[in-house]
Amino acid sequence: MSTSPPSSIVETQSVDETLALGERIGRALLPGTVIALVGTLGSGKTHLVKGIARGNAAPAGVEVTSPTFVLINEYPGRLRLYHIDVYRLRSPAELAALGFDEMTDAGGAVLVEWADRVSELLPDDHLHIEIEITGAATRRFTLDGSGSEAAGVLRTLG
Ligand SMILES: Nc1ncnc2c1ncn2[C@@H]1O[C@H](COP(=O)(O)OP(=O)(O)OP(=O)(O)O)[C@@H](O)[C@H]1O
Ligand SMILES: [Mg+2]
Repeated sequence: MSTSPPSSIVETQSVDETLALGERIGRALLPGTVIALVGTLGSGKTHLVKGIARGNAAPAGVEVTSPTFVLINEYPGRLRLYHIDVYRLRSPAELAALGFDEMTDAGGAVLVEWADRVSELLPDDHLHIEIEITGAATRRFTLDGSGSEAAGVLRTLG
């Protein structure tokens, strides 16, 4: 018998609230967690990643920006975080060559902006976060776990 995967909706009223949501997620990350960030331009994907890096205890001075000249940004912390922005990849095929296994097998967590553009490359078990712009300063985050590990992270989030 299967049960429907856990899902939760969080609405934020400011950048700070989005950072705080990210921090909660960053604390809940497990080794090997892959997060698919889906939302239009300026919806808040990178700000959420900033919060996640903080919650993952990134040392002071670690700067979170979308990877532009490199394929992947890496942020140290409790777990090693890998930040990929598919929109800025010259060729999404570059990502296929990388594979997620190397990053997750080593116990890292992977955050992918514009993940819907490479959905066929994502591991089955990942946390899907959809961001909707609901106002000038408001955003709606819908979190879905597709797999037991992602579901575990969601449960920790409560
Ligand atoms: N509640 C909110 N949470 C996050 N960002 C917000 C919020 N309200 C307004 N904003 C603004 O929305 C923008 C979000 O930018 P951000 O770079 O995080 O988006 P993004 O989804 O990564 O964009 P891109 O698709 O260009 O990578 C910022 O300008 C930020 O100030
Ligand atoms: Mg971004």
